[in-house]
Amino acid sequence: MKVLLIGSGGREHALAWKLAQSPRLTALYAAPGNPGIAEEAIIVDIDTADNAAVLAFCRKEAIDFVVVGPEAPLVAGLADTLRNGGIAVFGPSAAAAQLEGSKGFTKDICAKYDIPTGAYQRFTSAEPAKAYIRQQGAPIVIKADGLAAGKGVTVAMTLDEALDAVDSCFSGTFGAAGAEVVVEAYLDGEEASFFCLCDGKTALALASAQDHKRVGDGDTGPNTGGMGAYSPAPVMTPDMVERTMRDIIEPTIAGMADSGHPFTGVLFAGLMITAKGPELIEYNVRFGDPECQVLMMRLKSDLLPLLYAAATGTLASISAEWRDEAALTVVMASKGYPGAYEKNTPIARLPEAGTNAKVFHAGTALKDGQLVATGGRVLNVTAMGSTVSAAKDSAYTALDQVEWDNGFCRRDIGWQAVEREKA
Ligand code: AMP
Ligand code: GLY
Repeated sequence: MKVLLIGSGGREHALAWKLAQSPRLTALYAAPGNPGIAEEAIIVDIDTADNAAVLAFCRKEAIDFVVVGPEAPLVAGLADTLRNGGIAVFGPSAAAAQLEGSKGFTKDICAKYDIPTGAYQRFTSAEPAKAYIRQQGAPIVIKADGLAAGKGVTVAMTLDEALDAVDSCFSGTFGAAGAEVVVEAYLDGEEASFFCLCDGKTALALASAQDHKRVGDGDTGPNTGGMGAYSPAPVMTPDMVERTMRDIIEPTIAGMADSGHPFTGVLFAGLMITAKGPELIEYNVRFGDPECQVLMMRLKSDLLPLLYAAATGTLASISAEWRDEAALTVVMASKGYPGAYEKNTPIARLPEAGTNAKVFHAGTALKDGQLVATGGRVLNVTAMGSTVSAAKDSAYTALDQVEWDNGFCRRDIGWQAVEREKA
């Protein structure tokens, strides 16, 4: 099978690495790609924001299957263009991608199908939103409706913070994404990420992970795209997985099909495990980054037939096998991230081959033969272990071999699981 992978981050490097191991693969292409992905795939120069150009490339090269990594092309309808053009594609239609593209859309699905989530209201102007917030009190959560690169959410511990967040959204801080605001009840508990493949009618549970959103050790500082992750998440016991499938995922899949927008691709549920059980914080319509990196390390099965089954409506006849070990990834980022950072700083050394870890490239480029950091999140040092603590030790041992003056990382990835393992 000839496959085209869309994306250029650590998530896509992990997908490329795993797809390249498939006996069913005959050729792997990637766009835009990065130097890590280039070790697994042929990088092609197409504008991935131009849906027609991607379709034209697929026809010219007789591509059998396209795997879309990030959400932006999905929300922009790339999967629709390819599917209408007769190309099999892993990823939802633009209409189904609204599960990530509009928080209000997802909350309305939850309300309609009785899916556990925080109570909420949607607003298109500030005063009614503020009146509702005053009535509900703090803590309370304010969310820009649209895609805001993970920055559109304010967990307000005080009333003033909540009211300021409303003003900030409606004054255009998040552009069009903030034209509508969702105000939501604060949920207390432990967070987990849960991933399922979906083919429009069937959902296949994959695995759980825990992300570390804050930039600093001890979960301090501003939110980021994720500074590290591990899998599985101990809070996702078999009972919690079963309840999540029954109460959250399956009603969503049935609801989306019912509404004429069947969901295909990977459904990433951001969950809060509260005293009442799992509640939905949000959906994403693609793999998490860096959660995907740890999932791919743990997946024993061939990834290609799994993704193809999701794309072609045949998930009911396939299953996924997982390694029992834990996997953990540490993100190395450019100093200054998630704020401004210097670009094109040299990465002098990566860990020796043969260390017990895999380095996925997230924001790198080759300039005159020198590996340089071009993004905020740059490298994902990923390792397996019999426990999260063991995986953590291996990941940091490899990471300490990296020579990159402008890089930094958190030193406490996996702390919740490590504390549990010590207890
Ligand atoms: P989101 O972009 O929706 O994932 O939100 C970012 C982060 O805000 C989540 O990972 C949670 O830590 C937090 N958050 C979002 N919604 C809630 C909520 N209703 N209650 C508590 N925390 C929340
Ligand atoms: N790591 C969080 C995300 O991919 O949305």
